[in-house]
Amino acid sequence: MCGIVGYRGHNDAIKKTINCLEKLEYRGYDSAGIAYISLNDIIIKKEKGRIKNLKDNLNFDEQSNIAIAHTRWATHGESNQINAHPHNVGHITLVHNGIIENYLELKEELIVNGYDFVSETDTEVACAYIDYLYSKNNNKIEVINSISKYFKGSYALGILFDDELDSIYATRLDSPLIVGIKDDEYFIASDVPAILEYTDKYILIDNKEVVHINDSCTIYNNLNVVNKEINTFEFNIENNGKGNYEHYMLKEINEQPNIIYYLLNKYINNLEELPDLSKYNRIDIIGCGSAYHTGLIGKSLFEGYANTEVNCYVASEYRYQTNFYTDNTLIIFISQSGETADTLACLRKVKEKNIDTLAIVNAVGSSIAREADNVIYIEAGPEIAVATTKAYTAQITILALLAIKKSNTNIDTLITDINNIKDTISSLINDIDYVSIAEEIYKRDDIFFIGRLIDYAIALEGSLKLKEISYINSSTYPAGELKHGTISLIDEGTPVISIITDENIKDKTVSNVKEVKARGAISILVTNLDGMDDIIDNIIKVPKVNKFLQPIITIIPLQLLSYFVARKRGCDIDKPRNLAKSVTVE
Ligand code: AGP
Repeated sequence: MCGIVGYRGHNDAIKKTINCLEKLEYRGYDSAGIAYISLNDIIIKKEKGRIKNLKDNLNFDEQSNIAIAHTRWATHGESNQINAHPHNVGHITLVHNGIIENYLELKEELIVNGYDFVSETDTEVACAYIDYLYSKNNNKIEVINSISKYFKGSYALGILFDDELDSIYATRLDSPLIVGIKDDEYFIASDVPAILEYTDKYILIDNKEVVHINDSCTIYNNLNVVNKEINTFEFNIENNGKGNYEHYMLKEINEQPNIIYYLLNKYINNLEELPDLSKYNRIDIIGCGSAYHTGLIGKSLFEGYANTEVNCYVASEYRYQTNFYTDNTLIIFISQSGETADTLACLRKVKEKNIDTLAIVNAVGSSIAREADNVIYIEAGPEIAVATTKAYTAQITILALLAIKKSNTNIDTLITDINNIKDTISSLINDIDYVSIAEEIYKRDDIFFIGRLIDYAIALEGSLKLKEISYINSSTYPAGELKHGTISLIDEGTPVISIITDENIKDKTVSNVKEVKARGAISILVTNLDGMDDIIDNIIKVPKVNKFLQPIITIIPLQLLSYFVARKRGCDIDKPRNLAKSVTVE
């Protein structure tokens, strides 16, 4: 989390830096700050809350050709102005993305050496420590190069020294950092899209490299100057704002018909363009949050129809577990951002064992995309709303295509549904009255989701969507599991949302819905099947499509229901409290 940017070039550094920073607000929005050089001085401005608050206190006409800036997702210390970046200690002013895990230890050492601290952050300690090292060695490159010896954790740093006001320094360890280049202008940023308004030329900075930007840009690896490749960002990730939509989430939900159709159409007659999985008899899928949920959908598809064992793991658990690898195992890493710290750590852990890895990623050039043996981009375009919608369905689409290929399914059986999929999804978006169902449930404190197998995986995602944007507590259970304890929570009026799309086990779930209805629950059914009138208080009917495509469309109503519930509750839908889009801390 947290986003950093920096700029050195012409006299509009404040404007350009803030423009870039706004593209990184998805990484955190607890506070924002900027340090810029004006009249031979470093000026620091920072504000609690969104970047907008900072902008309101900046003079964009003020001339400056160097600035660094930060948008924060708080880890150490509450969200307030003092804890906001940039931090300044002695000669050093810096912005930081990451966590310095041993900051307390370093802080003690610094206090003994006369340093005082004003904030609760690990970043101020990092700043002071660099100042401390600089007091003993005035070679800036050597000092910055040495910090990996002292700092445990992760960092991407943009650094100003008060005795060299025409330079920006930067470095990273396990947090992303790129340098953007446009003629005589240089940028640093946490990701490439942040700088695309100005340039599509960028350099990927590797761990522990040190960047020095003044009239030119020099990159050092272990103190040696290195010539790095200048990349051109070739993907179209146009972000035209919200358009006519009230929220990015609604816009992104509405982008799904085109994205899903595009992916299906791109690959269905060209399955050879997807990796050949025929030699793998076991697949492990690793991700966090919604990305983990898409893995569970993949498990149902591969195990149900492609005779392939799949195990899904939450990345933050997998990385500390004892892992068992068998011959012919493929490990798939799923991540929208491609930067999720736990998922990335699992990828690195697995790579040490020489196991084949495949990444399914949205963010082009991200760490997970670069470090996996193979990558499939989901090509969903930038996803701005924190709650994922289009990336989730695009990930499922890719998993479905891989399962179709692995199962040698006759693609003729899919063509009609693929040809119709845009209309199918559009009608799910436009023709159902979600508002009136939302009216019925938006005041509830607790909502339950149930389903079996693939429907349970969909229920998990529906529940997560509702929780993250509406703040209603919702729990998800395999339908048969409620009676083992949780059914005690069901009473008069408790909404229970059941997903039933698997005909083979429909009757079993129907019995479970009857059990909760008998205890007063309001039953909301999401189904593609008929004949369940006796268990329905509200029904959302989804069309029945090919089994590989069914989960892609069944989630759509749950995305919209969450959206309308959150809107009814007046929540900040695109930027829910406490969350960030890219989770680069463990
Ligand atoms: C879902 O809406 C989330 N915001 C969250 O669970 C997300 O899917 C998770 O943090 C993983 O992110 P990634 O796909 O970027 O790795």
